[in-house]
Amino acid sequence: MSILITGGAGYIGSHTCVELLSAGYDIVVIDNYSNSCNESLERVKKISGKEFSYYECDIRNKEGLDKIFKEHNIEAVIHFAGLKAVGESCQKPLEYYDNNIGGTIALVEVMRNNGCKKMVFSSSATVYGEENQVPFIETMKTGTTTNPYGTTKLYIENILKDIYAADNEWSIVLLRYFNPVGAHISGLIGEAPSFPNNLMPYISQVAVGKREFLSVFGNNYPTPDGTGVRDYIHVVDLALGHVKAIDFALPRTGVEIFNLGTGNGTSVLGLVKAFEEATGVPVPYKIVEPRAGDVAYSYANAQKALDILGWKAERDVTKMCEDTWRWQKNNPNGYNS
Ligand code: NAD
Ligand code: UD1
Repeated sequence: MSILITGGAGYIGSHTCVELLSAGYDIVVIDNYSNSCNESLERVKKISGKEFSYYECDIRNKEGLDKIFKEHNIEAVIHFAGLKAVGESCQKPLEYYDNNIGGTIALVEVMRNNGCKKMVFSSSATVYGEENQVPFIETMKTGTTTNPYGTTKLYIENILKDIYAADNEWSIVLLRYFNPVGAHISGLIGEAPSFPNNLMPYISQVAVGKREFLSVFGNNYPTPDGTGVRDYIHVVDLALGHVKAIDFALPRTGVEIFNLGTGNGTSVLGLVKAFEEATGVPVPYKIVEPRAGDVAYSYANAQKALDILGWKAERDVTKMCEDTWRWQKNNPNGYNS
């Protein structure tokens, strides 16, 4: 029996592959490499010392997916595959709806046709929208999303809930990630964006000399230092959360939602300072206008994952910075270094 990992060559997927292999799961990976390459999977093999099959396959390709399901005994799917750039999603909404929502529908159809009804899905804290107050808790009504990327996450959550409502044999776990950062301790795998949209990759590219300074988006938020506060979570803790989620999903049916966050908030300037202290490298910055759609605060109530999954994030902000820096230093141009 194997777990199929869609988007497994990507940032969170590759770290999750390492932890699943280490927990003794057999895995099969598919990816269309639109935002990755198979070098990350070769490095997963190196870190874990284990073999597994991987395929270049788009989740919208039902025939290709069906072949993989027929070839392997797939018990459950961890579904990471998707486009994730917020700004790009505003320019190309159709592409995002087609890839993320169309892709999920094709995948779920092939799963059902092959009698595989267990899925762990990568959702996002973005579904809490602008209306809810921190700390975000799973029982809150989802909010209004501010961009097509966020809307795809909200729609997919609703589609998966409807699928369970119509067929109670499904087991669905919706994981709402907060802000994943960091890298594997080996420095072999990490996040490799060609252009960094998120804070930590930007900080590390400034530190390594690829960019001159960080633009801090606004310092007039109602937060202690005026900059936005987020719940940064080490990607290895996040990956371990997926192992717990799959352990949970396999023997059951139903739909469960879990926040994967630390429950702690760090401001933009707080993260800059932590990075400088952890690495000894200065990160010059300038305060600029706030970014449209940003909220002052986002952090999780992380109690449910602890109570039900027995999972808690263990790695602190210093560790997140150290591990990001090791990866960035060793691979200044990502997997092309
Ligand atoms: P990533 O881009 O590194 O990984 C996604 C992978 O999916 C990539 O390897 C990409 O090539 C692949 N992919 C995209 N479309 C595909 C398709 N149609 N068929 C097959 N493969 C496809 O991103 P990530 O940071 O690892 O994110 C993984 C998942 O977690 C995504 O669904 C993302 O939206 C979600 N998420 C990420 C964050 C974050 O901050 N990184 C936060 C919340 C949710
Ligand atoms: C963003 C997305 C969110 C997505 C998440 C993970 C927006 C509005 N939200 O969340 O939907 O799920 O990424 O992919 O884009 N910052 C700077 N300078 C920078 C970059 C960021 O000051 O160059 C600040 C931001 O204003 C924010 C904080 O750093 O206060 C974190 O930003 P980011 O890493 O982009 O994550 P989110 O905005 O939380």
